[in-house]
Amino acid sequence: MPRITGYRKAHFNAAHRLYRSDWSDEKNLAVFGKCSNPHYHGHNYEIIVAVTGEIDSETGYVYDLGKLKRLIRSEIEDAFDHKNLNIEVEEFKTLNPTAENICVVSYQKLRKHLPDSLELEVTLYETPRNFVRYSGE
Ligand code: NI
Repeated sequence: MPRITGYRKAHFNAAHRLYRSDWSDEKNLAVFGKCSNPHYHGHNYEIIVAVTGEIDSETGYVYDLGKLKRLIRSEIEDAFDHKNLNIEVEEFKTLNPTAENICVVSYQKLRKHLPDSLELEVTLYETPRNFVRYSGE
């Protein structure tokens, strides 16, 4: 059967602060700029989840995108939307919530619920112009 990619887009708003507690405020500011603001700041994140595999001969689906929608809602939107990532999200209490790390954590949260036969790729926009992409490894 042909291989194809299905996509689902979702959105969440969240606050974060980029910093290392073992660095001085000056060094954090030098490395992370205004993203190290001790009072936090927010982003409108856009996430694009792509699943690639063979079209199922019975259903005609690569993966039920309604199921993917619900998975993204439970694993990503419910977990991150309107949250302070540093304070309220377990994964980022010890991991700097950069776009890179949010993308990898999102991938890992989704990966374990998807069949092994599907390839997964996650694209995360932190701003309309800044985005990262992760597909495992
Ligand atoms: Ni930021």
